[in-house]
Amino acid sequence: MGEVVLEGRGIKKWYGKLQVLKGIDIKIEKGKTKVIIGPSGSGKSTLLRILGLLEPPTEGNVLFKGRDVYAEKLDLNKIRAKIGFVFQEPSLFRHLTALDNVKLGLRHVLKLSEDEARRKALETLRIVHLEGWKDHYPAQLSGGQQQRVGIARALAMDPEIILFDEPTASLDIELTWEVIDTMRELAERGITMLVVTHEISFAKEVADEIIFMDDGMILEEGPPEKVLMNPKSERARVFLRRLLGV
Ligand SMILES: Nc1ncnc2c1ncn2[C@@H]1O[C@H](COP(=O)(O)OP(=O)(O)OP(=O)(O)O)[C@@H](O)[C@H]1O
Ligand SMILES: [Mg+2]
Repeated sequence: MGEVVLEGRGIKKWYGKLQVLKGIDIKIEKGKTKVIIGPSGSGKSTLLRILGLLEPPTEGNVLFKGRDVYAEKLDLNKIRAKIGFVFQEPSLFRHLTALDNVKLGLRHVLKLSEDEARRKALETLRIVHLEGWKDHYPAQLSGGQQQRVGIARALAMDPEIILFDEPTASLDIELTWEVIDTMRELAERGITMLVVTHEISFAKEVADEIIFMDDGMILEEGPPEKVLMNPKSERARVFLRRLLGV
């Protein structure tokens, strides 16, 4: 096994009396793409937020590059800066251009100079094929382009891992592809990714491993062909049948 970037051990989460996560063990290795699928309410977003240190688990451990974040009382903000997040909505600043949106974290979090931040932001916009759109404001970009600016914003920070939570769920089908293609290119560049998505073609072609979650538990995990084509559990079979429309 390669270097593990992010790990959850025995993650449990309650919201009041509702137990949302029931003991999740997950490891994401450097350079790998892991995809999480599962029905609505199964705890996918909650798991992502916990692994991304946006909220603590009720029980269990989160390890970043082998170090137990909460047990060792590590500086959360320092680690958060190394974890990129891409949500369903890109939440760009509307009064800033694409370039300035990408530059923001470089200036204020990484404290790069204006010149360095500009160079890095342009280089990253090139990776998502938006260099020609750098001076456009979010309202002047398509939903897919906005999402790619959001991806560039995460990528520019040189994160150790990027967590995606249904990045194409609010897009029309034809815009979905450009975002999926961008993510595929990131995987080819060796970016470590954990992706919640129902884009089965992405899962099949890009994921090194797929996890099927249901009711706060991992019911299936393994290479795409195993989980998608030959699931052990009835719940995964039913879910996949619906998803694949067969
Ligand atoms: N902050 C919160 N407070 C209370 N309950 C919450 C909170 N966040 C999530 N939940 C509940 O936890 C459960 C799991 O939610 P979560 O958003 O993690 O599911 P999900 O798998 O991402 O679903 P979806 O596919 O719809 O995005 C749901 O029952 C949800 O209502
Ligand atoms: Mg969710």
